[in-house]
Amino acid sequence: MKRLHLIILSSAFVAMVSCQSHKVESTIGSSPEVEARVERILSQMTLAEKIGQMNQVSAGGDVTNYAEALRKGQIGSILNEVDPEKINEYQRICIEESRLGIPLLVARDIIHGFHTIFPIPLGLAASFDPDLVEQGARTAALEGSAQGIRWTFSPMLDIARDPRWGRMAEGSGEDTFLDTKMAEAMVRGYQGASIDTTSMAACIKHFVGYGAAEGGRDYNSTNLTERQLRNIYLPPFEAAVKSGAMTLMTSFNDNDGVPSTGNIFIVKDILREEWGFDGLVVTDWNSMGEMINHGFGTDKKDVAKKALEAGVDMDMMTFGYLSHLEELVRNGSVKEAALDQAVRNILRVKIMLGLFEHPYVNAEAGKTVQYAPEHLETALKSAEESAILLKNDGILPLNEEGIRSILVTGPMADAPHDQLGTWAFDGQKEHTVTPLKALQERFPGKVTFIPALSSSRERKTRFDDVVAAARRADVVLAFLGEEAILSGEAHSLADLNLKGSQSELLEALKLAGKPVVATIMAGRPLTIERDLPNCDAILYSFHPGTMGGPALVNLITGDVNPSGKTPVTFLRTVGQVPLYYSHTMTGRPYNGETLLDDIPPEAGQTSLGNTSYYLDYGAYPLFPFGFGLSYTSFDYSRISLDKDVYDEGDCLEISLTLSNTGKYDGTEVVQVYVRDMVGSLTRPVKELKHFERVYLKAGESRDLRISIPVSELAFYGLDGIKKVEPGEFRIWVAGDSASGEPLSFTVE
Ligand code: BGC
Repeated sequence: MKRLHLIILSSAFVAMVSCQSHKVESTIGSSPEVEARVERILSQMTLAEKIGQMNQVSAGGDVTNYAEALRKGQIGSILNEVDPEKINEYQRICIEESRLGIPLLVARDIIHGFHTIFPIPLGLAASFDPDLVEQGARTAALEGSAQGIRWTFSPMLDIARDPRWGRMAEGSGEDTFLDTKMAEAMVRGYQGASIDTTSMAACIKHFVGYGAAEGGRDYNSTNLTERQLRNIYLPPFEAAVKSGAMTLMTSFNDNDGVPSTGNIFIVKDILREEWGFDGLVVTDWNSMGEMINHGFGTDKKDVAKKALEAGVDMDMMTFGYLSHLEELVRNGSVKEAALDQAVRNILRVKIMLGLFEHPYVNAEAGKTVQYAPEHLETALKSAEESAILLKNDGILPLNEEGIRSILVTGPMADAPHDQLGTWAFDGQKEHTVTPLKALQERFPGKVTFIPALSSSRERKTRFDDVVAAARRADVVLAFLGEEAILSGEAHSLADLNLKGSQSELLEALKLAGKPVVATIMAGRPLTIERDLPNCDAILYSFHPGTMGGPALVNLITGDVNPSGKTPVTFLRTVGQVPLYYSHTMTGRPYNGETLLDDIPPEAGQTSLGNTSYYLDYGAYPLFPFGFGLSYTSFDYSRISLDKDVYDEGDCLEISLTLSNTGKYDGTEVVQVYVRDMVGSLTRPVKELKHFERVYLKAGESRDLRISIPVSELAFYGLDGIKKVEPGEFRIWVAGDSASGEPLSFTVE
């Protein structure tokens, strides 16, 4: 692996030299003026003041708790304070009462909205709409910055292929390309087109591989090879760095035995040297200290030294730098120059955010920005686009005229806190519009509400009331899933079926004989195979946020046509983990062989086909990546490429006609997948290389042209160098990852 790394470094070096002789640019957009200012401040700082800048603490309670430390310059950043008055007071102490007047960087986990809560990031990814996601992040930045928060610990770019991992909710799912597009969009949104007082510095996290936790148990070890890192897990981070992300967070996990916070190879060699990142690197919460638990360091002094050597600038809540760096510098164990570099990275961000000029906010004015009507509007649209129609026997959209009574049931129908999802600290449930509330408004006097289960986990054997009510209703709308607490950090699950007696509730409702529409709110793709026969339609909305209720009502009634697509493979059973669309091909691909129930009694060891599958569940998922229905239907025709043979510098020019062949106007997410047929390494059977949302009126057809640079087909091959390997490729243009007929082309 060392060899692979060296080759990459040397090729990067060659590229730098041959391109031009000018200085490598700042990835965060710094200028000579900013750098001069950084140096001016740095030159005035004592060792203790430098170490203070590298220390981040969590606010708690009274401002006076930290006043003395702030005066002494012992704190560079505070997280978890959202009260603008207190933030102003913290800043005032720093500016007016500390020796150098360096402002604080105030941080918060604003993950999918500050007060106005958007769908969880996994839901946002289902929209396949980076522009809208950017608008959502901008909204979050407007609300956060108005209250003095200028740094958010988002976006989370961890590729996740195991839905047991609770933090799948916080990312964009399983795919590198989709994750990359969402990463770029969120960085643009948080930081704005140019940095000003409404910018929140983005923090790309968790660097790196955290989503590949063994067994889906949070914080667990990962064992990703350098090739997997470079081809699958690192690209979203690299793209976000290129988009100007100002900060990055190291992850909790150890990969191949090295905890990220002390990983010289990923932080120093790849992030700093290869990518030239000159932003701020912060640890995750106590991830420096936890290197002791990992058995990677003896004590706080030891791990502080290791983190600094890896290139980590700021310590979140270990206090390892604060307590030990001075001694380490004085006894010569670490060089002051290493500290200087870290402090430069911190000051650069503070200067660029304009904190020195604008440390304070107008607390009163800031309040009026929260939940602004246009913010709620963006949240509504995001929730509409995030919902995926997984099944529809024709009951949706509801024929409103024929409906006199609606039974609303299920634990998520009126769960204003839980529909906000994980990491929604500041979204107040009083502002949430639940499906029940939205339905009562839309259908006054026609809605009967019987929750049937008080929580997703309640167990019950009889559903007499709700079944009797279902018999009297024209349609049953069941809102099921999992509460916010069942996903997110440290909330992994080993069983992904609907919890409690939710499946039994659906079964009972089905027997009542009325159409049943299930809406599932969850932080991950649950295994809902057994529930499909018991409902006539299923909308999967993940946790949809503040405006989830009206969004779902708009979808159910057909005011809005569903357009979301699965950002992650939906499994039939948890035993299929990991199952993702862009796997490599085995030497014995599944070929539709015999399943358990069909095995004849006399079958011998070798009579079943000897291919790669499960005897009991086959080889396929419940719903593939990129899948989602609409109330209309789309037809792809006349798909062609402009050439058969391409050079590396070319673009693939794809033409096709997309037709809306159904009765409703609607949006299709057109997806392009490519397979590199033969490589120096086995290649994924399909990789997403392009997507776009196309809106067509009922009956409308449109000719589309899609352009994909051949350079997009490059990967790190056997020789460790990123390039396009010549040979044959296949390409699919379709509405999901399992459809379409391939075309072939060659790269010479
Ligand atoms: C999480 C991070 C988060 C940090 C600060 C940690 O526990 O892993 O994602 O940003 O806390 O709240």
